[in-house]
Amino acid sequence: MPLSQFQEDILQGIPINIPEKKEYDLSINHAPKRKEILTIEEKKLALRNALRYFPSNLHAELAEDFLDELSRYGRIYMFRYRPDYKMYARPIQEYPGNSEQAKAIMLMIQNNLDYAVAQHPQELITYGGNGAVFQNWIQYRLTMKYLAEMSDEQTLVMYSGHPMGLFPSHKNAPRVVVTNGMMIPNYSKPDDWEKFNALGVTQYGQMTAGSYMYIGPQGIVHGTTITVLNAVRRIAKDRSDIRGKLFVTAGLGGMSGAQPKAGNIAGVISVTAEVNPKAAHTRHSQGWVDELIDNIPELVSRVKLAKNNKEVVSIAYLGNVVDIWEAFYENDILIDLGSDQTSLHNPWSGGYYPAGLSFEESNIMMADKPEEFKKNIQLSLNRHAEAVNKHTERGTYFFDYGNAFLLESSRAGANVMAPNGIDFKYPSYIQDILGPMCFDFGFGPFRWVCASGKPEDLIKTDEIACRVLEDMMISSPVEIQQQMADNIQWIKGAQENKLVVGSQARILYADAEGRMKIAQAFNEAILRGDIGPIVLGRDHHDVSGTDSPYRETSNIYDGSRFTADMAIQNVIGDSFRGATWVSIHNGGGVGWGEVINGGFGMLLDGSKESERNLKMMLHWDVNNGVARRNWARNENAIFAIKRAMEVEPSLRVTIPNLVDDKTLEYLFK
Ligand SMILES: NC(=O)c1ccc[n+]([C@@H]2O[C@H](COP(=O)([O-])OP(=O)(O)OC[C@H]3O[C@@H](n4cnc5c(N)ncnc54)[C@H](O)[C@@H]3O)[C@@H](O)[C@H]2O)c1
Repeated sequence: MPLSQFQEDILQGIPINIPEKKEYDLSINHAPKRKEILTIEEKKLALRNALRYFPSNLHAELAEDFLDELSRYGRIYMFRYRPDYKMYARPIQEYPGNSEQAKAIMLMIQNNLDYAVAQHPQELITYGGNGAVFQNWIQYRLTMKYLAEMSDEQTLVMYSGHPMGLFPSHKNAPRVVVTNGMMIPNYSKPDDWEKFNALGVTQYGQMTAGSYMYIGPQGIVHGTTITVLNAVRRIAKDRSDIRGKLFVTAGLGGMSGAQPKAGNIAGVISVTAEVNPKAAHTRHSQGWVDELIDNIPELVSRVKLAKNNKEVVSIAYLGNVVDIWEAFYENDILIDLGSDQTSLHNPWSGGYYPAGLSFEESNIMMADKPEEFKKNIQLSLNRHAEAVNKHTERGTYFFDYGNAFLLESSRAGANVMAPNGIDFKYPSYIQDILGPMCFDFGFGPFRWVCASGKPEDLIKTDEIACRVLEDMMISSPVEIQQQMADNIQWIKGAQENKLVVGSQARILYADAEGRMKIAQAFNEAILRGDIGPIVLGRDHHDVSGTDSPYRETSNIYDGSRFTADMAIQNVIGDSFRGATWVSIHNGGGVGWGEVINGGFGMLLDGSKESERNLKMMLHWDVNNGVARRNWARNENAIFAIKRAMEVEPSLRVTIPNLVDDKTLEYLFK
């Protein structure tokens, strides 16, 4: 068959002649200008690094262009090498190549850079402001060419976006091994990222960006739903007690925008504050929040009415969240559940808007008077925490949503510390909710992508997954019945909730047994010809792949949460158990130097090899973390790993002996 234009473009790799400059399209969301950090000598080094992809006769012209990009944007993206074809996940057979596995990876890379999916597609950033797939367009072009030319006896080695090359390996080795931002530990501070990324020698892959596994917002909707549902269960006596409960939070942005949807699914009244009118109106017009109110008196009477009628409704308040906490206290409105998803991991440049200033005033002050702005934020955090404290004294259950609210409030001097002076007064969502209720049992964000690109394949896989979970639920122990029921409910509503953006993908929380059984059923359906090939994966908000002391592993209390052995073991273990590609990253949602997380992708093609690989790798990919959580003395993980050992006799895990506190108290009397 003759090659299509798209296939020819991929196989061309780096064009022989320099392409025309491309227009900087202002209608597209672009990455902010990065900090000016390089010295003159370092700028020369950055240019030398960029030019090594090209023959020397092109250097003079390109050097000028790349220096211009470095000065304007703080990075060299090589915009003129952006391909002209549309960027999206094509059906797998449209990719050129000799390896189906490599084609699946091309599909996933293109999905991560799809304009409908990626945050700053032209800067090759998928999400989180800095989550890069590649550092520049030449790395993209070269990688796609390698993938199109490689065989199943080779492995492509990726160093932070740079394709180092194809190395001989074997059929069951990963086709691609990705490392992103792996630094010598002392060089892992935020400014180190700025500098070494500007030099073109490292990148911040976040996690699903740098491992080609991002599937749009549905991952966040499912995770947020599980969190809010389980938080509500903590405070409700039984199902009948849920209606009429009030959840107050803030943020209708990228991830936080899922909160009202989750509130509705959990069956409560939710009030979500948002200071940015654009964000609030977008979520309202998308139907992610039911009602929009822009003044406190109206909000107070609407919430009282909703409580009286025990409604299930989500309300966006256009204004500052501190005003809600204070007004609800004065008006005797009991908040049952409280949290916050402002972007306090980035407090000084727009992540948190202080009370007492309008949105516009804040935007001006943060640029013109950053020190004054900082003081306003700290004052606001003190007011914010004080109002939360008053409500919790009345019975509100408050949790930190992994956004550094408690950390920044404590730094601002607010009263949020526990009496021991070490811990915070309030738990994080992982400590109280996702950790013990999901991760310790092995439940996490399993996902799949239909490589055929056919919506009907996604419908069939949803049905298969639902059947598998329903069968499992009949004999599953009481400890995990609730999780199973939630996940069945999610998958049943998935089609109706229209969650697909980009590739035909689905997320579904499942434990090790669930992931293996669903994957096996998919593989059998592929063999029968009912569906096309499937790519399996997950995100980092999971049991085993991530060591992140203030998030994924914050419910590890044996002192080991500042270690990263689990994440490293995980990626090594996945790589020799049949993963199609593996990745390991420094940084994720919580910041460069703050977390190590890894991921994998696996192509199922209906073969016997796929069956063996899925069983071996998914078993490890979950039980590694369950074993570690068990060793940290987490009760539910001890239960889960003992159960896993009963099912699989060749699994033998060291079980901790628990120490009676009295033994130690006696010693320290
Ligand atoms: N949803 C999740 O699964 C999840 C998990 C872990 C952590 N987080 C954390 O949640 C935070 C939010 O993530 P995001 O992607 O939604 O960020 P975002 O910046 O897109 O959204 C935050 C929103 O909060 C609004 N805001 C800021 N200060 C406010 C205030 N005082 N009152 C009312 N609104 C205010 C901003 O205008 C913005 O729209 C991040 O710190 C993220 O790391 C989210």
